[in-house]
Amino acid sequence: MPPNASFDLKQYARKHARIVDQALNKLLPSARTKPGTIHRAIRHSLFAGGKRVRPILALAAAEACGGEIENALPVACAVECIHTYSLIHDDLPALDNDDFRRGRPASHKVFGEGIAVLAGDALLTQAFELAAQAKPTPRYPVSDMILDLAKTSGSLQLIAGQVADLEGEGQKLTRSKLQYIHERKTSALLTCSARLGGMSANCTPTQLQALTDFGYHIGLAFQVIDDILDVTQTSEQLGKTAGKDEAADKATYPAVVGLKKSEQIAKKLTDKAFTALQPFRGKAVALEAMAHFLLKRKN
Ligand code: IPE
Ligand code: IPE
Ligand code: MG
Ligand code: MG
Ligand code: MG
Repeated sequence: MPPNASFDLKQYARKHARIVDQALNKLLPSARTKPGTIHRAIRHSLFAGGKRVRPILALAAAEACGGEIENALPVACAVECIHTYSLIHDDLPALDNDDFRRGRPASHKVFGEGIAVLAGDALLTQAFELAAQAKPTPRYPVSDMILDLAKTSGSLQLIAGQVADLEGEGQKLTRSKLQYIHERKTSALLTCSARLGGMSANCTPTQLQALTDFGYHIGLAFQVIDDILDVTQTSEQLGKTAGKDEAADKATYPAVVGLKKSEQIAKKLTDKAFTALQPFRGKAVALEAMAHFLLKRKN
C-alpha cells in the first residue's frame, strides 16, 4: 500500500518526539539531583537523539483510537525508558561490547561499567514508576498496562530474546530460531508500545487486536531492517558501530537468509502491518506512515 501523500510524517514525528522529550525531562530527576553521577548517566543515554520510535508509536496508537496525547504520555515515556535501558545494557562489554550509541560514546565508556549497569537498572525501574502514573480507562485498569509492560520486558520476552541472541553468537541458526530472537528482543516492545497507547485511549478489543498485530509485524520488520542497516550503512549514518554483527558472528537475517531475501522479508512484514490496520478504515494515517517510513529508514 502506498503511503498517504497528504500526511506529513516528518512534521508529526518531530512534534511528537518533542512532546515526549519534554515529558521525560519533566518526569525524570534532573542531572543535578543527587547522586549526580547516576542522573547524569541516565540523561546521557536518554537525551542523545534516539528516534523515539516506540513512544511515537504509543502516541499514534492512542490517537488512532480517538484518545488524548496527554493520557498516553506516561506509557509512551515508560516504553522509551525500557528501550534506553535495554540499549545501555546491550552495549556492555559482557553483551555486544559496543563503544558508540546514538552518536555518542556508550554509557560504559563515559561512566564505567558499574554506573552503566546501574543507569540501566534505574531506567527499568523508572519505567514502572511512569506506567503507574497512567490514568485508568473504563476498559483497562492501570494494572493491565503495568502487567503488559512487565511481561514484555521480562524473561519470556525481551530478556529471552537477548539471552538467545547472546547464546546464538557463532552458531548457525535456523530461520525460525532467528525469528524467535527478533520477536522477543525487539518486536515485543514495539507491540507493547502500540497496545499501551491503545489502552490509554480505552480502545475496543478489536482495536487492541489490530494494534497487537500491527506492532508485531512492524516490530519484527524493525529488527530485520536493523540487521540490514548494520551491513549497508556507515557508523556515522547509524550513530553506532556498523558491521558489528558480522564481526561478532551474530545471528542476523542477512547472515541466515542473505541481504536480498532479508529486504523481501521486511517488505512482506510491512505489508502485513498495513493489513492489520484495516479495522481503523483509513483513520490510522500516522501508523500507516510510520510503517512505510520504518521500512525505508537509513538509521
Ligand atoms: C535500536 O533501536 C535497537 C533495536 C532494537 C534494533 P532504535 O533504532 O530504535 O534506536 P534509537 O532509539 O533510535 O537509538
Ligand atoms: C538490540 O538488538 C535489542 C535490544 C537492545 C533489546 P541489537 O543488538 O541488534 O541492537 P543494536 O544494533 O546494538 O542497536
Ligand atoms: Mg544486541
Ligand atoms: Mg547491539
Ligand atoms: Mg543491531
